[in-house]
Amino acid sequence: MREPRPTLPEEARLLEKAARCLPGGTLGTYRLPGEPAFVVKRAQGSRLWDVSGREYIDYLLGSGPMILGHAHPAVVAAVSEQLSKGTTYFLLNEPVILLAEELCRAIPCCEQVRFTSTGSEATFFALRLARAYRKRDKILKFEGGFHGSHDYAPMSFTPRSPKAFPAAMPDSAGIPHVLEGEVLIAPFNDLPTTEALLAVYADQLAAVIVEPFQRVIPPQKGFLQGLRTLTARYEIPLVFDEVVTGFRFAYGGAQEYYGVVPDLAAFGKIIGGGFPLAAVCGREAIMRCLDQSLEGTPEYVAQTGTLNGNPVAAVAGLATLGELRKPGVYARLHRTGAALRDGLADLVRRLGLPGQVVGEAPLFDVFFTDQPITDYRSTLTSDRAFLKAFNHECLKRGILKGSQKFYVSLAHTEADVERSLEALAGALGALPRQ
Ligand SMILES: Cc1ncc(COP(=O)(O)O)c(C=O)c1O
Repeated sequence: MREPRPTLPEEARLLEKAARCLPGGTLGTYRLPGEPAFVVKRAQGSRLWDVSGREYIDYLLGSGPMILGHAHPAVVAAVSEQLSKGTTYFLLNEPVILLAEELCRAIPCCEQVRFTSTGSEATFFALRLARAYRKRDKILKFEGGFHGSHDYAPMSFTPRSPKAFPAAMPDSAGIPHVLEGEVLIAPFNDLPTTEALLAVYADQLAAVIVEPFQRVIPPQKGFLQGLRTLTARYEIPLVFDEVVTGFRFAYGGAQEYYGVVPDLAAFGKIIGGGFPLAAVCGREAIMRCLDQSLEGTPEYVAQTGTLNGNPVAAVAGLATLGELRKPGVYARLHRTGAALRDGLADLVRRLGLPGQVVGEAPLFDVFFTDQPITDYRSTLTSDRAFLKAFNHECLKRGILKGSQKFYVSLAHTEADVERSLEALAGALGALPRQ
Protein backbone atom coordinates (compact mmCIF):
# COMPACT_ATOMS: atom_id res chain seq x y z
CA MET A 1 0.00 0.00 0.00
CA ARG A 2 1.25 3.49 -0.81
CA GLU A 3 2.39 5.81 1.94
CA PRO A 4 -0.68 7.63 3.24
CA ARG A 5 -0.28 11.35 2.62
CA PRO A 6 -2.03 13.66 5.02
CA THR A 7 -4.72 16.06 3.83
CA LEU A 8 -3.11 19.49 3.57
CA PRO A 9 -4.75 22.48 5.33
CA GLU A 10 -5.52 24.03 1.91
CA GLU A 11 -7.57 20.98 0.90
CA ALA A 12 -9.23 20.73 4.31
CA ARG A 13 -10.32 24.39 3.96
CA LEU A 14 -11.81 23.71 0.53
CA LEU A 15 -13.70 20.70 1.88
CA GLU A 16 -15.08 22.86 4.71
CA LYS A 17 -16.26 25.46 2.18
CA ALA A 18 -17.87 22.72 0.08
CA ALA A 19 -19.67 21.37 3.15
CA ARG A 20 -21.03 24.84 3.81
CA CYS A 21 -22.00 25.94 0.29
CA LEU A 22 -23.03 22.71 -1.43
CA PRO A 23 -25.90 20.49 -0.23
CA GLY A 24 -24.24 17.55 1.50
CA GLY A 25 -20.89 19.02 0.45
CA THR A 26 -21.13 17.37 -2.98
CA LEU A 27 -22.00 18.17 -6.59
CA GLY A 28 -24.69 15.48 -6.70
CA THR A 29 -22.22 13.43 -8.70
CA TYR A 30 -19.97 10.71 -7.35
CA ARG A 31 -19.87 10.53 -3.59
CA LEU A 32 -16.51 9.23 -2.49
CA PRO A 33 -16.72 6.01 -0.49
CA GLY A 34 -15.06 7.47 2.62
CA GLU A 35 -11.96 9.15 3.94
CA PRO A 36 -9.79 10.60 2.67
CA ALA A 37 -12.26 13.01 1.08
CA PHE A 38 -10.44 15.02 -1.56
CA VAL A 39 -10.67 17.89 -4.01
CA VAL A 40 -9.26 17.45 -7.52
CA LYS A 41 -6.34 19.65 -8.48
CA ARG A 42 -5.59 18.35 -11.96
CA ALA A 43 -5.64 15.31 -14.22
CA GLN A 44 -3.47 14.11 -17.08
CA GLY A 45 -3.74 10.90 -19.10
CA SER A 46 -4.76 8.06 -16.78
CA ARG A 47 -3.86 9.99 -13.60
CA LEU A 48 -5.58 12.44 -11.33
CA TRP A 49 -4.10 14.40 -8.41
CA ASP A 50 -5.80 16.00 -5.44
CA VAL A 51 -4.96 19.26 -3.73
CA SER A 52 -2.79 17.45 -1.17
CA GLY A 53 -0.73 15.88 -3.97
CA ARG A 54 -2.15 12.35 -3.74
CA GLU A 55 -2.11 10.54 -7.08
CA TYR A 56 -4.87 8.25 -8.35
CA ILE A 57 -5.09 5.92 -11.33
CA ASP A 58 -8.40 7.11 -12.70
CA TYR A 59 -11.05 4.54 -13.67
CA LEU A 60 -13.87 7.03 -13.06
CA LEU A 61 -12.82 9.14 -16.07
CA GLY A 62 -15.26 11.96 -15.41
CA SER A 63 -18.03 9.32 -15.40
CA GLY A 64 -17.06 8.21 -18.87
CA PRO A 65 -16.33 11.05 -21.32
CA MET A 66 -12.54 10.86 -20.99
CA ILE A 67 -12.02 7.76 -23.13
CA LEU A 68 -8.73 9.23 -24.42
CA GLY A 69 -7.60 10.04 -20.89
CA HIS A 70 -7.41 13.53 -19.41
CA ALA A 71 -6.05 16.56 -21.27
CA HIS A 72 -5.35 14.62 -24.45
CA PRO A 73 -3.11 16.82 -26.67
CA ALA A 74 -5.46 16.60 -29.69
CA VAL A 75 -8.42 17.79 -27.60
CA VAL A 76 -6.42 20.50 -25.82
CA ALA A 77 -5.15 21.84 -29.16
CA ALA A 78 -8.59 21.86 -30.78
CA VAL A 79 -10.21 23.59 -27.82
CA SER A 80 -7.40 26.14 -27.45
CA GLU A 81 -7.72 27.07 -31.12
CA GLN A 82 -11.50 27.46 -30.84
CA LEU A 83 -11.45 29.58 -27.68
CA SER A 84 -10.15 32.71 -29.39
CA LYS A 85 -12.80 32.37 -32.12
CA GLY A 86 -15.63 32.71 -29.61
CA THR A 87 -17.10 30.21 -27.21
CA THR A 88 -20.79 30.10 -28.08
CA TYR A 89 -23.02 31.60 -30.77
CA PHE A 90 -26.59 30.15 -30.56
CA LEU A 91 -26.17 29.80 -34.34
CA LEU A 92 -25.02 27.25 -36.89
CA ASN A 93 -21.24 26.89 -36.84
CA GLU A 94 -18.75 24.76 -38.77
CA PRO A 95 -17.56 22.47 -35.93
CA VAL A 96 -21.05 21.39 -34.93
CA ILE A 97 -22.16 20.77 -38.52
CA LEU A 98 -19.08 18.59 -39.03
CA LEU A 99 -19.82 16.76 -35.78
CA ALA A 100 -23.43 16.12 -36.89
CA GLU A 101 -22.11 14.80 -40.21
CA GLU A 102 -19.69 12.47 -38.40
CA LEU A 103 -22.42 11.15 -36.08
CA CYS A 104 -24.58 10.41 -39.15
CA ARG A 105 -21.63 8.56 -40.70
CA ALA A 106 -20.77 6.59 -37.58
CA ILE A 107 -24.05 5.63 -35.93
CA PRO A 108 -26.25 3.11 -37.75
CA CYS A 109 -29.64 4.65 -36.73
CA CYS A 110 -28.52 8.23 -37.21
CA GLU A 111 -29.96 10.09 -40.19
CA GLN A 112 -30.30 13.40 -38.33
CA VAL A 113 -29.06 14.91 -35.09
CA ARG A 114 -30.38 17.44 -32.56
CA PHE A 115 -27.76 18.59 -30.06
CA THR A 116 -28.38 19.19 -26.36
CA SER A 117 -25.99 19.89 -23.50
CA THR A 118 -26.54 16.82 -21.31
CA GLY A 119 -27.46 13.20 -21.65
CA SER A 120 -30.52 13.80 -19.47
CA GLU A 121 -31.82 16.33 -21.97
CA ALA A 122 -31.08 13.93 -24.81
CA THR A 123 -33.20 11.12 -23.31
CA PHE A 124 -35.90 13.60 -22.26
CA PHE A 125 -36.23 15.00 -25.78
CA ALA A 126 -35.94 11.58 -27.43
CA LEU A 127 -39.01 10.56 -25.40
CA ARG A 128 -40.88 13.78 -26.23
CA LEU A 129 -40.08 13.22 -29.88
CA ALA A 130 -41.34 9.64 -29.72
CA ARG A 131 -44.58 10.82 -28.08
CA ALA A 132 -45.15 13.41 -30.78
CA TYR A 133 -44.44 10.94 -33.57
CA ARG A 134 -46.42 8.03 -32.17
CA LYS A 135 -49.20 10.17 -30.65
CA ARG A 136 -49.22 8.17 -27.42
CA ASP A 137 -47.95 9.12 -23.95
CA LYS A 138 -46.61 6.16 -22.01
CA ILE A 139 -43.08 4.86 -22.14
CA LEU A 140 -41.66 1.51 -21.18
CA LYS A 141 -38.27 1.36 -19.51
CA PHE A 142 -36.32 -1.39 -17.77
CA GLU A 143 -35.86 -1.81 -14.05
CA GLY A 144 -32.38 -0.69 -13.04
CA GLY A 145 -31.92 1.31 -16.24
CA PHE A 146 -30.61 4.87 -15.83
CA HIS A 147 -31.61 7.61 -18.26
CA GLY A 148 -30.67 10.78 -16.37
CA SER A 149 -32.46 13.04 -13.90
CA HIS A 150 -35.58 14.39 -15.64
CA ASP A 151 -39.00 13.45 -14.30
CA TYR A 152 -39.53 10.37 -16.52
CA ALA A 153 -36.09 8.88 -15.89
CA PRO A 154 -35.60 8.19 -12.15
CA MET A 155 -38.31 5.52 -12.14
CA SER A 156 -37.43 2.07 -10.76
CA PHE A 157 -33.72 2.73 -11.22
CA THR A 158 -32.89 1.50 -7.72
CA PRO A 159 -36.18 0.43 -6.15
CA ARG A 160 -35.49 -0.88 -2.65
CA SER A 161 -38.51 -3.14 -2.61
CA PRO A 162 -39.42 -3.60 -6.26
CA LYS A 163 -43.10 -3.81 -7.17
CA ALA A 164 -44.77 -6.24 -9.58
CA PHE A 165 -44.10 -5.32 -13.22
CA PRO A 166 -45.00 -2.91 -14.82
CA ALA A 167 -45.58 -0.61 -11.80
CA ALA A 168 -42.98 2.17 -11.54
CA MET A 169 -41.39 3.39 -8.31
CA PRO A 170 -39.97 6.91 -8.40
CA ASP A 171 -36.37 7.17 -7.18
CA SER A 172 -36.69 10.82 -6.22
CA ALA A 173 -38.96 13.06 -4.24
CA GLY A 174 -40.59 15.85 -6.20
CA ILE A 175 -41.64 13.88 -9.28
CA PRO A 176 -45.33 14.51 -10.08
CA HIS A 177 -47.21 11.39 -8.95
CA VAL A 178 -49.20 11.43 -12.18
CA LEU A 179 -46.04 10.43 -14.07
CA GLU A 180 -45.80 7.11 -12.21
CA GLY A 181 -48.68 5.95 -14.38
CA GLU A 182 -46.94 7.13 -17.54
CA VAL A 183 -43.86 4.94 -17.12
CA LEU A 184 -44.08 1.14 -17.32
CA ILE A 185 -41.28 -1.04 -16.00
CA ALA A 186 -40.05 -4.33 -17.46
CA PRO A 187 -37.21 -6.65 -16.39
CA PHE A 188 -33.99 -6.28 -18.41
CA ASN A 189 -32.94 -9.40 -20.33
CA ASP A 190 -36.41 -10.94 -19.88
CA LEU A 191 -38.00 -11.01 -23.30
CA PRO A 192 -41.06 -13.16 -22.43
CA THR A 193 -42.17 -10.74 -19.66
CA THR A 194 -41.49 -7.73 -21.89
CA GLU A 195 -43.43 -9.36 -24.71
CA ALA A 196 -46.39 -10.02 -22.41
CA LEU A 197 -46.37 -6.36 -21.26
CA LEU A 198 -46.22 -5.12 -24.82
CA ALA A 199 -49.14 -7.34 -25.77
CA VAL A 200 -51.26 -5.55 -23.16
CA TYR A 201 -49.91 -1.97 -23.39
CA ALA A 202 -48.63 -1.57 -26.97
CA ASP A 203 -51.45 0.72 -28.01
CA GLN A 204 -50.68 3.16 -25.17
CA LEU A 205 -46.92 3.25 -25.66
CA ALA A 206 -44.95 6.08 -27.27
CA ALA A 207 -41.56 4.41 -26.89
CA VAL A 208 -39.49 1.63 -25.39
CA ILE A 209 -36.24 3.00 -24.00
CA VAL A 210 -33.33 0.79 -22.99
CA GLU A 211 -29.69 1.00 -22.09
CA PRO A 212 -28.46 -1.66 -24.54
CA PHE A 213 -25.80 -2.55 -21.97
CA GLN A 214 -27.58 -1.79 -18.71
CA ARG A 215 -25.14 -0.21 -16.24
CA VAL A 216 -22.51 -2.99 -16.52
CA ILE A 217 -24.87 -5.83 -17.46
CA PRO A 218 -24.52 -7.03 -21.06
CA PRO A 219 -27.64 -7.93 -23.03
CA GLN A 220 -28.21 -11.65 -23.27
CA LYS A 221 -28.13 -13.20 -26.69
CA GLY A 222 -31.30 -12.31 -28.58
CA PHE A 223 -32.64 -9.77 -26.05
CA LEU A 224 -31.99 -6.60 -28.05
CA GLN A 225 -32.91 -8.33 -31.29
CA GLY A 226 -36.15 -9.49 -29.66
CA LEU A 227 -36.94 -5.94 -28.51
CA ARG A 228 -36.30 -4.73 -32.05
CA THR A 229 -38.65 -7.31 -33.53
CA LEU A 230 -41.41 -6.65 -30.98
CA THR A 231 -41.29 -2.86 -31.19
CA ALA A 232 -41.24 -3.03 -34.99
CA ARG A 233 -44.28 -5.32 -34.90
CA TYR A 234 -46.22 -2.79 -32.81
CA GLU A 235 -44.66 0.24 -34.59
CA ILE A 236 -43.37 1.62 -31.28
CA PRO A 237 -40.15 3.64 -31.60
CA LEU A 238 -37.25 1.82 -29.93
CA VAL A 239 -34.87 4.23 -28.19
CA PHE A 240 -31.34 3.18 -27.24
CA ASP A 241 -29.81 5.22 -24.47
CA GLU A 242 -26.21 5.24 -25.70
CA VAL A 243 -25.02 8.00 -23.37
CA VAL A 244 -22.58 5.50 -21.85
CA THR A 245 -22.14 3.02 -24.72
CA GLY A 246 -21.78 5.56 -27.54
CA PHE A 247 -18.31 5.20 -29.12
CA ARG A 248 -17.22 3.03 -26.17
CA PHE A 249 -17.18 -0.62 -27.28
CA ALA A 250 -17.13 0.20 -30.99
CA TYR A 251 -17.10 3.38 -33.08
CA GLY A 252 -20.77 2.90 -34.02
CA GLY A 253 -21.81 2.39 -30.38
CA ALA A 254 -23.75 -0.51 -28.89
CA GLN A 255 -25.92 -0.63 -31.99
CA GLU A 256 -22.87 -1.54 -34.05
CA TYR A 257 -21.32 -3.73 -31.33
CA TYR A 258 -24.47 -5.79 -30.69
CA GLY A 259 -25.82 -5.47 -34.23
CA VAL A 260 -29.27 -4.07 -33.45
CA VAL A 261 -30.43 -0.72 -34.85
CA PRO A 262 -33.01 1.33 -32.91
CA ASP A 263 -35.21 4.15 -34.26
CA LEU A 264 -33.80 6.83 -31.96
CA ALA A 265 -30.76 7.05 -29.72
CA ALA A 266 -29.43 9.39 -27.06
CA PHE A 267 -25.69 10.08 -27.02
CA GLY A 268 -23.56 12.09 -24.60
CA LYS A 269 -20.29 11.78 -22.68
CA ILE A 270 -17.68 10.81 -25.33
CA ILE A 271 -19.17 12.92 -28.16
CA GLY A 272 -18.46 16.10 -26.18
CA GLY A 273 -14.85 15.20 -25.45
CA GLY A 274 -15.21 16.27 -21.80
CA PHE A 275 -17.44 19.29 -22.51
CA PRO A 276 -21.22 19.57 -22.08
CA LEU A 277 -22.63 18.18 -25.30
CA ALA A 278 -25.10 15.41 -26.04
CA ALA A 279 -27.46 14.53 -28.86
CA VAL A 280 -30.65 12.88 -29.97
CA CYS A 281 -30.08 10.91 -33.16
CA GLY A 282 -32.40 8.90 -35.30
CA ARG A 283 -34.48 8.23 -38.33
CA GLU A 284 -35.37 11.29 -40.35
CA ALA A 285 -39.06 10.31 -40.35
CA ILE A 286 -39.12 10.91 -36.58
CA MET A 287 -36.42 13.60 -36.27
CA ARG A 288 -38.32 15.81 -38.74
CA CYS A 289 -40.82 16.65 -35.94
CA LEU A 290 -38.06 18.95 -34.61
CA ASP A 291 -37.99 20.94 -37.87
CA GLN A 292 -38.82 24.55 -36.94
CA SER A 293 -40.76 25.02 -40.15
CA LEU A 294 -43.44 22.78 -38.56
CA GLU A 295 -43.95 25.31 -35.76
CA GLY A 296 -47.66 25.83 -35.17
CA THR A 297 -48.57 22.35 -36.44
CA PRO A 298 -49.63 19.49 -34.12
CA GLU A 299 -46.49 17.51 -35.02
CA TYR A 300 -43.96 20.12 -33.98
CA VAL A 301 -41.65 19.24 -31.09
CA ALA A 302 -40.28 22.30 -29.32
CA GLN A 303 -36.68 21.89 -28.24
CA THR A 304 -34.07 24.55 -27.78
CA GLY A 305 -31.13 25.28 -25.50
CA THR A 306 -28.73 28.20 -25.05
CA LEU A 307 -25.70 25.98 -25.57
CA ASN A 308 -27.12 23.65 -28.26
CA GLY A 309 -24.33 23.13 -30.77
CA ASN A 310 -21.67 24.78 -28.65
CA PRO A 311 -18.53 25.07 -30.82
CA VAL A 312 -15.99 24.45 -28.03
CA ALA A 313 -17.69 21.18 -27.11
CA ALA A 314 -18.03 20.31 -30.80
CA VAL A 315 -14.30 20.69 -31.53
CA ALA A 316 -13.50 18.62 -28.43
CA GLY A 317 -15.91 15.97 -29.66
CA LEU A 318 -14.51 16.03 -33.20
CA ALA A 319 -10.94 15.71 -31.90
CA THR A 320 -11.96 12.79 -29.67
CA LEU A 321 -13.71 10.99 -32.52
CA GLY A 322 -10.71 11.65 -34.75
CA GLU A 323 -8.50 9.75 -32.30
CA LEU A 324 -11.05 6.94 -31.99
CA ARG A 325 -11.05 6.46 -35.79
CA LYS A 326 -7.34 5.62 -35.82
CA PRO A 327 -6.63 1.99 -36.77
CA GLY A 328 -6.39 -0.50 -33.92
CA VAL A 329 -7.73 1.86 -31.27
CA TYR A 330 -10.72 -0.23 -30.16
CA ALA A 331 -8.63 -3.43 -30.21
CA ARG A 332 -6.18 -1.70 -27.85
CA LEU A 333 -8.97 -0.42 -25.57
CA HIS A 334 -10.49 -3.91 -25.35
CA ARG A 335 -7.04 -5.46 -24.73
CA THR A 336 -6.25 -3.09 -21.85
CA GLY A 337 -9.73 -3.46 -20.38
CA ALA A 338 -9.62 -7.25 -20.65
CA ALA A 339 -6.26 -7.37 -18.84
CA LEU A 340 -7.73 -5.43 -15.90
CA ARG A 341 -11.15 -7.12 -15.94
CA ASP A 342 -9.77 -10.65 -16.20
CA GLY A 343 -7.02 -9.89 -13.69
CA LEU A 344 -9.63 -8.70 -11.19
CA ALA A 345 -11.79 -11.79 -11.83
CA ASP A 346 -8.74 -13.95 -11.22
CA LEU A 347 -7.99 -12.20 -7.90
CA VAL A 348 -11.58 -12.65 -6.71
CA ARG A 349 -11.42 -16.35 -7.63
CA ARG A 350 -8.02 -16.95 -6.04
CA LEU A 351 -9.10 -15.30 -2.80
CA GLY A 352 -12.17 -17.55 -2.74
CA LEU A 353 -14.56 -14.59 -2.51
CA PRO A 354 -18.15 -15.11 -3.63
CA GLY A 355 -17.91 -12.65 -6.49
CA GLN A 356 -17.91 -12.25 -10.23
CA VAL A 357 -16.81 -9.60 -12.68
CA VAL A 358 -19.54 -8.45 -15.07
CA GLY A 359 -19.34 -6.29 -18.19
CA GLU A 360 -17.43 -5.70 -21.40
CA ALA A 361 -13.68 -5.08 -21.33
CA PRO A 362 -13.89 -1.24 -21.51
CA LEU A 363 -16.54 -1.06 -18.74
CA PHE A 364 -17.17 -3.57 -15.97
CA ASP A 365 -17.23 -4.14 -12.23
CA VAL A 366 -17.31 -6.80 -9.57
CA PHE A 367 -20.50 -8.02 -7.87
CA PHE A 368 -20.02 -9.85 -4.59
CA THR A 369 -22.52 -12.64 -5.13
CA ASP A 370 -22.45 -16.13 -6.58
CA GLN A 371 -25.79 -15.60 -8.38
CA PRO A 372 -25.65 -14.81 -12.11
CA ILE A 373 -26.10 -11.08 -12.74
CA THR A 374 -28.58 -10.57 -15.55
CA ASP A 375 -30.90 -7.80 -14.37
CA TYR A 376 -31.56 -5.37 -11.52
CA ARG A 377 -33.15 -7.91 -9.18
CA SER A 378 -30.19 -10.25 -9.46
CA THR A 379 -27.89 -7.36 -8.42
CA LEU A 380 -29.83 -7.22 -5.13
CA THR A 381 -28.24 -10.56 -4.20
CA SER A 382 -24.82 -8.90 -4.13
CA ASP A 383 -23.22 -7.60 -0.95
CA ARG A 384 -23.28 -3.84 -1.42
CA ALA A 385 -21.61 -3.06 1.91
CA PHE A 386 -18.72 -5.28 0.84
CA LEU A 387 -18.50 -3.43 -2.50
CA LYS A 388 -18.48 -0.10 -0.68
CA ALA A 389 -15.65 -1.34 1.54
CA PHE A 390 -13.81 -2.55 -1.58
CA ASN A 391 -14.20 0.85 -3.27
CA HIS A 392 -12.88 2.49 -0.13
CA GLU A 393 -9.87 0.16 0.06
CA CYS A 394 -9.21 0.87 -3.64
CA LEU A 395 -9.27 4.61 -3.04
CA LYS A 396 -6.86 4.30 -0.12
CA ARG A 397 -4.49 2.55 -2.54
CA GLY A 398 -4.82 5.22 -5.23
CA ILE A 399 -7.40 3.49 -7.43
CA LEU A 400 -10.33 5.75 -8.29
CA LYS A 401 -13.37 3.94 -9.67
CA GLY A 402 -17.12 4.54 -9.85
CA SER A 403 -19.41 3.12 -7.19
CA GLN A 404 -20.24 0.23 -9.53
CA LYS A 405 -18.00 0.84 -12.55
CA PHE A 406 -14.46 0.62 -13.85
CA TYR A 407 -14.17 2.77 -16.99
CA VAL A 408 -11.01 2.03 -18.99
CA SER A 409 -9.38 4.61 -21.27
CA LEU A 410 -6.85 4.60 -24.08
CA ALA A 411 -4.46 6.39 -21.74
CA HIS A 412 -4.24 3.39 -19.41
CA THR A 413 -1.04 1.47 -20.06
CA GLU A 414 0.06 -2.09 -19.33
CA ALA A 415 2.08 -0.65 -16.45
CA ASP A 416 -1.07 1.05 -15.09
CA VAL A 417 -2.92 -2.26 -15.25
CA GLU A 418 -0.09 -4.07 -13.49
CA ARG A 419 0.07 -1.47 -10.75
CA SER A 420 -3.72 -1.42 -10.46
CA LEU A 421 -3.93 -5.20 -10.08
CA GLU A 422 -1.40 -5.05 -7.24
CA ALA A 423 -3.54 -2.41 -5.54
CA LEU A 424 -6.74 -4.37 -6.20
CA ALA A 425 -5.17 -7.48 -4.68
CA GLY A 426 -4.32 -5.41 -1.59
CA ALA A 427 -7.83 -3.96 -1.46
CA LEU A 428 -9.52 -7.36 -1.73
CA GLY A 429 -7.10 -8.84 0.81
CA ALA A 430 -7.92 -6.08 3.31
CA LEU A 431 -11.67 -6.81 3.26
CA PRO A 432 -13.18 -8.51 6.30
CA ARG A 433 -13.82 -12.25 5.74
CA GLN A 434 -17.08 -13.82 6.87
C1 LIG B 1 -27.18 5.72 -19.63
C2 LIG B 1 -27.24 7.16 -19.21
N1 LIG B 1 -28.20 7.95 -19.72
C3 LIG B 1 -28.30 9.26 -19.41
C4 LIG B 1 -27.40 9.83 -18.54
C5 LIG B 1 -27.52 11.28 -18.20
O1 LIG B 1 -26.49 12.00 -18.78
P1 LIG B 1 -26.02 13.40 -18.14
O2 LIG B 1 -25.36 13.07 -16.84
O3 LIG B 1 -25.10 13.96 -19.16
O4 LIG B 1 -27.26 14.21 -17.97
C6 LIG B 1 -26.38 9.06 -17.98
C7 LIG B 1 -25.40 9.67 -17.06
O5 LIG B 1 -24.50 9.03 -16.57
C8 LIG B 1 -26.30 7.69 -18.30
O6 LIG B 1 -25.38 6.89 -17.75
